Amino acid sequence: RNMSIIGVPMDLGQSRRGVDMGPSAIRYAGVIETLENLKYNIADLGDVAVSRPDSKDNLQEGNLRNLKQVFECNQTLAEMVDEEIAEKRFPLVLGGDHSIAIGTLAGTAKHYENLGVIWYDAHGDLNSGETSPSGNIHGMPLAVSLGIGHEKLTNILDYAPKVNPENIVIVGARSLDPGEKVLIREQGVTVYSMHEIDRLGMPQVMEESINYLKRRTDGVHLSLDLDGLDPEEAPGVGTPVMGGLSYRESHLAMEMLSESDILTSAEFVEVNPILDDKNKTASMAVGLIGSLFGEKLK
Ligand code: ARG
Ligand code: MN
Ligand code: MN
Ligand code: MN
Repeated sequence: RNMSIIGVPMDLGQSRRGVDMGPSAIRYAGVIETLENLKYNIADLGDVAVSRPDSKDNLQEGNLRNLKQVFECNQTLAEMVDEEIAEKRFPLVLGGDHSIAIGTLAGTAKHYENLGVIWYDAHGDLNSGETSPSGNIHGMPLAVSLGIGHEKLTNILDYAPKVNPENIVIVGARSLDPGEKVLIREQGVTVYSMHEIDRLGMPQVMEESINYLKRRTDGVHLSLDLDGLDPEEAPGVGTPVMGGLSYRESHLAMEMLSESDILTSAEFVEVNPILDDKNKTASMAVGLIGSLFGEKLK
């Protein structure tokens, strides 16, 4: 079981500094040791280069903050992920803000006819320059993967769209902008918001999600935004939303994904050590990664 770890110290997809230190915080919390104990053969490829912004509040063409820098980094990331998959290594990407999912998905989706995506997040990240309330590209990566958004971003690796909307399942949503709700309805994205999770319970939500994606996809990417968890348990995130998923629900979700054996790539994003409490959120990420890759009590 070969796995490549790629850090992406990106904080330009949003407006709060510090999330660029996420990869080192997750490494410090023991991600490599955890995976090696689970008998993975790990290659840590280090961090993708991120260039500095030209100015402080760098809104560029079409209401996109730091478009040039976010584009360049995602282009490099996409090429790296592409290469690791071609070499039959499982890519595990560590963020960095969620704009890096643009590159991860670009590098991943070309290897599958029908890539499935589990988007574990408080948000939909389905905005475009037109619908975004913030201009922050970390609120746009899922739309970009559907081919919606700035052409520079949607066309990374020269193909679009990356993902079919019907192959996407969002888990944990509780903050959606008006334009995102329209897109979800029009495109047929599956959403288990906190309402459904409270009603059905995480076991049923994950069982349905796994069975649904198993039937219709030939590979599944997990994109886990730590703000999907409740900010009381994962405080080190830039856009916290109260009423989130618990530690217990999240571990169960990871264990069920592990048992299902459907995942072909994964990323953990939005860990911001500056906003954190003694690296609690990075440790949470490492704990979830352990469960996702087979840690068990018996
Ligand atoms: N919907 C808001 C926006 O577009 C927040 C996005 C938060 N995204 C994230 N990956 N944390 O700005
Ligand atoms: Mn494809
Ligand atoms: Mn989020
Ligand atoms: Mn997100």
